[in-house]
Amino acid sequence: MAAEKNIRQPGENIPRHIAIILDGNGRWAKRRGLPRTAGHAAGSENFRKIATYCKNIGVDYLTVYAFSTENWKRPEDEVKTIMRLLRRYLNEAIDTMERDQIRMKIFGDVQGLSPELRELVKKTDEISQRYQGFQANICLNYGGRDEIVHAARHYAEDYAAGRTEGELTEAQFGGYLYSAGIPDPDLLIRPGGEQRISNFLLWQCAYAEFYFTDVLWPDFNTDELDKAIAAFQKRDRRYGGVK
Ligand code: FPP
Repeated sequence: MAAEKNIRQPGENIPRHIAIILDGNGRWAKRRGLPRTAGHAAGSENFRKIATYCKNIGVDYLTVYAFSTENWKRPEDEVKTIMRLLRRYLNEAIDTMERDQIRMKIFGDVQGLSPELRELVKKTDEISQRYQGFQANICLNYGGRDEIVHAARHYAEDYAAGRTEGELTEAQFGGYLYSAGIPDPDLLIRPGGEQRISNFLLWQCAYAEFYFTDVLWPDFNTDELDKAIAAFQKRDRRYGGVK
């Protein structure tokens, strides 16, 4: 119901691409006397709601930071829970993406994931190729620096093999990133109280508007998203120029 109450009017300046760092799950659980893993379960559920809302209000791309290349350092049971939630989410998505016409892409080093997750990523990629429209990107085993190095290696391979020539441009380099073909985020949201980028979409966020809030990710509901969008709509985006 909350999502319907908040549906915005077409024609408003809705960011085309929203990126979110899903932070605060652990603290959300701790405040309720629950294990951290319960916070991740609540966070995963919230992702579903926010993704649906984004699709309904006309956002074209939603990219979330679910698991970084550094998150493997977390306790084993926490990593296992996050991977289980992701498997469950992708399995359910495979059943509903066609009905809801949703595209989904995983950004990150999939070689470092379990064979089961890799298979799910392959299936979501296949289904996504058949649609146009809203796209959710989940960053998984993702790091911004890792992505840039990965892209540079691929470019060097192509250059050495003569598959590309001339001076490398920014647009050309962007084609080697996980986000190839996707416009840069307009709005980057970080719930959970921290004000840093944490190795997320370092290349792509060059001109993103940042929005920070103390609200923890599992509590970041559609009203909170509306507040972030309202703040975005007041920003004066100059891209280094003047008006
Ligand atoms: C950060 O909160 C959250 C994570 C590292 C994991 C996020 C993963 C999910 C929500 C699960 C699956 C996701 C999807 C998209 C289906 P934190 O643990 O650092 O919180 P804290 O700062 O309060 O400790």
